[in-house]
Order: sequence, then structure tokens, then C-alpha cells
Amino acid sequence: MINKHEIKDISLAKEGVRRINWASRDMPVLGQIKDRFEKDQPLRNTTIAACLHITAETANLGITLKAGGANVILCASNPLSTQDDVAAALVAEYDISTFAIRGEDRDTYYNHIISALETRPNMTMDDGADLVATLHGERKDLMENVIGGTEETTTGVIRLKSLADQGKLEYPVIAVNDADTKHFFDNRYGTGQSTLDGITRATNLLWAGKNVVVIGYGWCGRGVAMRAKGMGAQSIVCEVDHIRGLEAAMDGHQVMRIEDAAKIGDVFISVTGGMKAIDKKHAALMKDGALLANSGHFNVEIDIEGIESDSNNKQQVREFVDQYTMPDGRNINILGEGRLINLTAAEGHPSAVMDMSFSDQALSAEYIAKEHQNLEKTVYTVPDHIDKEVGRLKLTAMGIEIDVLTAEQEKYLNSWDIGT
Ligand SMILES: NC(=O)c1ccc[n+]([C@@H]2O[C@H](COP(=O)([O-])OP(=O)(O)OC[C@H]3O[C@@H](n4cnc5c(N)ncnc54)[C@H](O)[C@@H]3O)[C@@H](O)[C@H]2O)c1
Repeated sequence: MINKHEIKDISLAKEGVRRINWASRDMPVLGQIKDRFEKDQPLRNTTIAACLHITAETANLGITLKAGGANVILCASNPLSTQDDVAAALVAEYDISTFAIRGEDRDTYYNHIISALETRPNMTMDDGADLVATLHGERKDLMENVIGGTEETTTGVIRLKSLADQGKLEYPVIAVNDADTKHFFDNRYGTGQSTLDGITRATNLLWAGKNVVVIGYGWCGRGVAMRAKGMGAQSIVCEVDHIRGLEAAMDGHQVMRIEDAAKIGDVFISVTGGMKAIDKKHAALMKDGALLANSGHFNVEIDIEGIESDSNNKQQVREFVDQYTMPDGRNINILGEGRLINLTAAEGHPSAVMDMSFSDQALSAEYIAKEHQNLEKTVYTVPDHIDKEVGRLKLTAMGIEIDVLTAEQEKYLNSWDIGT
């Protein structure tokens, strides 16, 4: 019997399986965890509702959790990031309930979240905290079995910390995003590469010689600016934090206010986690043909409504490109409806980087299953031993060996009494 689901087309399953298998080649750490989970069954009798981007990498996480004994239900964490063939394969081949259709409207998106919650999960896995927000808002009635949860991204962690600060978080959550093996690699190298990939696929842009403005120089922004520079672009960074601005300047990027960057930029990429990082005032200063993309979690970083209301005309000029014609004749192009462009127009992060993020997820789920009775209703970082183990396994899988401290070196590093 096929489990409960709502997906686009089950006949896409074969292609989905191929995609999932291809991704698994680059996910050796998660593969090792899956092998151990099969034997140890650390998640038996655990129902996990996971609101994640429905991609081939997420499918490999779902398969790993299931191997560990869990009953896994997946729903999309973004209406435009679902790979429909992967969703079909999850249902048809891997017996994982999936509620996700690429391009679903807002109501369907939330109905899918509710369908996942109606399984009365023991654990939540979230990417952006829409699942947890729904559970703490209108569907509190579905909370009774939950022992803990995990959160994948910066924006979700910020929302959960705010819930915890108000004393309203009802169970412990592990901030997977805050593991070194997550944000050092996924946010920086994953978002860096895949954001440029998404913009390239959406536009066929030649990066060399372009003025690329990156708004926000956090983990994602560092990666995006570094990769844009590597493609031969002139990288420009806009920040609101002095230290991050200083870091960007010393990393060799031009740093300026967005009002100044708006006049010279060819491509604008927001990765702030905030709202209206690019607003209509900035769009009014931009050159004809400017490209605007967002890689932050929610589609609120570009003031699309404001730009639309200032424009005379909007037309789709290419898949993923909406062109707004302003009263003075300039065209401003917004990519992927302002949703994270790496997942909208490309395939999201490369599997090799999700190997670490999702290994952190799987091991954090195991940790919650074992330790939930000792955890408070607050946001925790990933335990250090998990973070270090994921790093060690990844480096080993890459065939890289590193040195080991001698006993003498270790003693020196742990002493206070040996000086000059
Ligand atoms: N596209 C993806 O696949 C992907 C992957 C990981 C994270 N994310 C999302 O990307 C966003 C950024 O994540 P991060 O880890 O880099 O966060 P971060 O907190 O490390 O960095 C955000 C930076 O933006 C700056 N900032 C905030 N508002 C600004 C504004 N109006 N103008 C200029 N700078 C501003 C902050 O000072 C900070 O330095 C989050 O929403 C996160 O959830 C997306």
C-alpha cells in the first residue's frame, strides 16, 4: 500500500530515484550513518515530521532516518524548491509520506505542513521554522507527542530563539545551522556556488566584468561574494554591521552603502535574513537591465510589491525572470520571484556539502531520541562531539589525513606555567 501523500505526479518516480542515487555518491558520511542506523535502530518508534526543501539530498536524509527505524513524513519548506521527481520517488520507492508540489500556492504550502503535523510527530525537523511556528500557533493541539526538534537554517534559528526568549518554546530544539560543520560549509561554499549557479541558469549571464553587489556579509554573503569575485566580477558588499563591513573590505571587496552600490551594480544578491534589503528606493537608482536575486531564506528581502507598484508594466521574459518596466523606461529584472534563487532556478546546494548538514541532522535526531529527558525547552547548539565527528568523517572520506599533537605539544597547550 502506498502511504499518504500529495505530490505532482507519481510517474516521475524513476527519474527521482536516479537523482537520489546520484546525490548519494557525494554523501559518504550520511551513508556511514545510515549503515550504523540500520544496525542500531536509534529512531525506532519515532515519527519525524520534516519540513525541508524536497531535493535529492533531503531524500537521502529521509532514507537514513527511516533506516534508523523512524517513520518519516516530509513536507516542503519552500513552495518553489521541490523537485517533483524526487517527491514521487520518495512515495513510490522509499515509502516516505511526502506532501510537496513545486509551485504550490500559499494555502497548499500550509496545508502540507498541517498534513505532516497531523501524523502527531515525536520530533520536528524544520528549515525556516514554519513547521514549528504552525505547531506553536494554530495547531497547538498536535504538540502532545513532540519530544524535540532540529532547525536547519539561520532564519529559523533566529525565529526559534525569539520564541524561546518569550518563554513560549514548548520543547528542546537543536540549531543544526550553528554547527561548524554546517554554516562554515553549507552557508558559505554551498550558498556561494549554488547562488551563482541559479542566477546563471536563470539568465545565462557572463559574470566576468560585472559589478556584483552582495547585500549581507554573513556566512552566505561571504561565499557569494568570494565566488562572484572568482568568476571575474567586481564584488561589492553592503553591510549594516561595522565588523562584517571591515572584514569584507579586508577580504578584498569594495564596501559601500546600498544607495551608492545601486547606481553601479549589474547584479544584486541579497543574503541578509532580513526584509527589504533591496527596496524600491534602491531600484529607482539602478541601471537599465539590473538583475535582482535573493538567496536569503524568505522572499521578503526584495521589496517586490514596492517595485511592482512603481512600475508601468511587468512581463515574464524568460523562465525565472520577471521584468518590471519603470516610468522612465528602465527595466529591472527580478529572478525567481525573489525566492531563494539557488533552489528555485538551480538544484540547491551540491550534495557534498549537504552530506555534512544532513549528517548533523541525523545525529542530532539520534541525540534527541536518547537525551530528550535531560533537555530544557530551549534552543541548543549541536553537541561538540557530533560536530567534530562529522568533520572527522568528512575529511577522511575526502582522503585527507591531518597531523596529531604529540604528548609534549598537548601538555604545552594545556599548561599555563611555561612562558618565554
Ligand atoms: N540559499 C540557501 O540555500 C541558504 C542556505 C543557508 C542559509 N540561508 C539563509 O540566508 C540568510 C543569511 O544567512 P547567513 O547564515 O549568512 O546569516 P548571517 O547572520 O551570518 O548573515 C547575515 C548578514 O546580513 C547583514 N544584514 C542584515 N540586514 C542587512 C541589511 N539590510 N543590509 C545589509 N546587511 C544586512 C547582517 O549584519 C549579517 O552580517 C538567512 O535567511 C538564512 O536562513 C540560505
